[in-house]
Amino acid sequence: MEIVIKRINYKTALILKNAYKAEGLKLRDFIGMSWLGAYDNTTLIGVVAYRRTKKGIVFKSDIVLKEYRGMGVYRKLFTERLKRIKKIKGTGSKRMYAYCTQSSLSLFLEYGFVKKRTVRRYTYVEYNNIK
Ligand SMILES: CC(C)(COP(=O)(O)OP(=O)(O)OC[C@H]1O[C@@H](n2cnc3c(N)ncnc32)[C@H](O)[C@@H]1OP(=O)(O)O)[C@@H](O)C(=O)NCCC(=O)NCCS
Repeated sequence: MEIVIKRINYKTALILKNAYKAEGLKLRDFIGMSWLGAYDNTTLIGVVAYRRTKKGIVFKSDIVLKEYRGMGVYRKLFTERLKRIKKIKGTGSKRMYAYCTQSSLSLFLEYGFVKKRTVRRYTYVEYNNIK
């Protein structure tokens, strides 16, 4: 299986609306949100997003379709997102952060995010001093 990561828009991400719903996650658009999609051929199988806020760059809306999990799709989306964020010039921001679930937490920690607190079923993680 060859996975291709592409820039997509919110309307395209909406294809996975039911998958978000099934996980109890909300899919919402925000001004300035960037979306990345993982494709298996022409099928959208995963999405991640990020946007700039006053606090830094927030990671949002991460999902991979159930039947494609455990194959490294999220890792691909995650590293592509990091690569693109590091390329943003003059954001004035040095921090990335996320409210992540139990299944995504280990990847955030692997990439140097630090656990700060737990809010209901989410763990707040932060990465400071983006280089
Ligand atoms: C979290 C999620 C996106 C992971 O997708 P995935 O494509 O299966 O993940 P990958 O196969 O790329 O795995 C990458 C790493 O994440 C970790 N991981 C993946 N699934 C995990 C799970 N269920 N529990 C704990 N860690 C997990 C592993 O460390 C894995 O690395 P390894 O396989 O090299 O050991 C997917 O399980 C999902 O969509 N979950 C529901 C929605 C969700 O929780 N989103 C996160 C919101 S912040």
